[in-house]
Amino acid sequence: MDKQNIIAVDGPAGSGKSSVTKAIAKKFNLNHVDTGAIFRAIALKIDDSFDEFDDDFNDFIDSIKLEYEKVDGDLSLKIDGVQMSGKIREHHVSALASKHSANIMVRKKVENIEKQIVKDSKQLCILEGRDIGAFVFPDAILKIYLDASVNVRAKRRMGELEDSKLTLDELIKDIKDRDDQDMNRVHAPLTKAEDAILIDTSDLKFEDVVEKISQLITSKGIA
Ligand code: DC
Repeated sequence: MDKQNIIAVDGPAGSGKSSVTKAIAKKFNLNHVDTGAIFRAIALKIDDSFDEFDDDFNDFIDSIKLEYEKVDGDLSLKIDGVQMSGKIREHHVSALASKHSANIMVRKKVENIEKQIVKDSKQLCILEGRDIGAFVFPDAILKIYLDASVNVRAKRRMGELEDSKLTLDELIKDIKDRDDQDMNRVHAPLTKAEDAILIDTSDLKFEDVVEKISQLITSKGIA
């Protein structure tokens, strides 16, 4: 089967996916799709509006209207007409997103919009997430799996969450819990696709990771 013109970058929380894929997208003029942001937005919607006594979960997810547009190169999501703002980046939303991403209905909803984004895109897409190379786009032309030690990932999170009062030990626990949930769920668990190229970013500088991926892209003649 022909390979699909998509770059898939998967990996656990704090492995460097977001910053690296954004830099690569800018360098090669690619359409950057942060799939975690879609799970975060849906998780927030569930948290805000789902009534466990009155609503049926599947119907609730089914009824959500998910729309996207590109604003200054970033994916901007609307759920039922409401712009999902910076709130999706708040620390507590990480655990919520991980919890709700285990649900098959939620995964299908996100998969559909990911496929729509790729179909509509006039540029080559680079998608970052947990299940892109192994499950959603198994024919992606280039698959990369970023990883790093738990300590390094927790320290990176600490740097991102400037106003947070969380200690490093608390962040290490959070990361371990999220790895456990994301890697051990039944549907599309986080895993390295067999044909993905593993890059351990623990001891690499940001620029070195960008350079490694750039070389892979140019050597394959993708962009
Ligand atoms: O990449 P992130 O931290 O924004 O992702 C938040 C959660 O969403 C993550 O813990 C698991 C889920 N997720 C997923 O299951 N599949 C993806 N492709 C992206 C994110």
